[in-house]
Amino acid sequence: MDRVLSGIRPTGYLHLGNYFGALKNFVRMQEENNCYFFIADYHSLTTHPKPGDLRTNIKNVLVDYLAAGLDPEKCTIYIQSDVPEVCELALLLGMNVYVGELQRVSSFKEKVRRQPDNINAGLLTYPILMASDILIHRADKVPVGKDQEQHLEMTRDFAQRFNHIYGVDYFKLPVAYNFGENLVKIPGLDGSNKMSKSDNEASCIFLSDSPEVICKKVMKAVSDSGPTEAGQSKSQAVENLFSLMEAVSTPDTVAFFEEAYQKCEIRYGDMKKQLAKDITHFVAPIYERIITLRSDDDYLSKVAKLGAEKARESASKTIREVREIIGINYN
Ligand code: TYM
Repeated sequence: MDRVLSGIRPTGYLHLGNYFGALKNFVRMQEENNCYFFIADYHSLTTHPKPGDLRTNIKNVLVDYLAAGLDPEKCTIYIQSDVPEVCELALLLGMNVYVGELQRVSSFKEKVRRQPDNINAGLLTYPILMASDILIHRADKVPVGKDQEQHLEMTRDFAQRFNHIYGVDYFKLPVAYNFGENLVKIPGLDGSNKMSKSDNEASCIFLSDSPEVICKKVMKAVSDSGPTEAGQSKSQAVENLFSLMEAVSTPDTVAFFEEAYQKCEIRYGDMKKQLAKDITHFVAPIYERIITLRSDDDYLSKVAKLGAEKARESASKTIREVREIIGINYN
């Protein structure tokens, strides 16, 4: 049985990008694999959230996970900070990671550009903590979106380096995974090529958006003035509308609008109406479960407690073995 692990930072509600990148296929996978799904609250501290907001966001992600179909009886759902073993592994792995390689990570370089006033050490060591999340359960597969590919590559490097230094074959080399499909990047409604809450909240459709909100957001999505000649290539914004449609609509619907585009007969208003309808249809069952789960704090606490116990069992075994390999076993 493969071990599968994925995580999401609690920065608000989950959006369609998180769902298609890291969650959808996981819901299918939990039957056949040993799955761990966690809320990466330590990682979210790089942006210094207020304690009350952090607590609310952790709850929101837990609710969204469950509403999206994760079953605590079939997989392990936990909060990262409930498993302190991950910090010890990060410290140990960090001894073999070079500052230069961390400085070259694209997400770090982007943060340096974007938030020059808050280049904290947590941002620099982010890939080490992320590798520890994965290696602490000795995961084989990691469902992630395209944006996390480099972090996965680094995880493999760190794992391989550890094995090499200690002459063992202990850590497996985990791969980024999307159930046999390519890694995905769901675009934003604002014309940007990635749906991202930190870039622009208005670009996102959240799993917890009501049908009215979805309709309003989609109708406001950026498009262009339309094709003027057959075979004209699409602008990024229109490409985005088609990509979103491919994610939620039937192939017939996509083909219909594709043909209309090619013949220069497309009406973006009609396309957006159809897209809003299909997104709503897709999100509706999740949205309904979110509304119910939000008020069930007892159940949510039980899920988090059960998840923490299961995750710690697996994590403490790894830490025991890693200490042994390193030689921290003189007692
Ligand atoms: P985060 O919180 O930014 O995003 C969570 C997951 O959602 C995916 N994702 C997307 N996929 C497709 N299209 C999009 N527009 C889109 N936006 C987000 C991300 O690829 C990710 O899979 N560093 C991670 C959290 C993390 C983690 C881990 C993930 C910490 N430790 C261990 C996997 C394994 C992050 O910031 O994801």
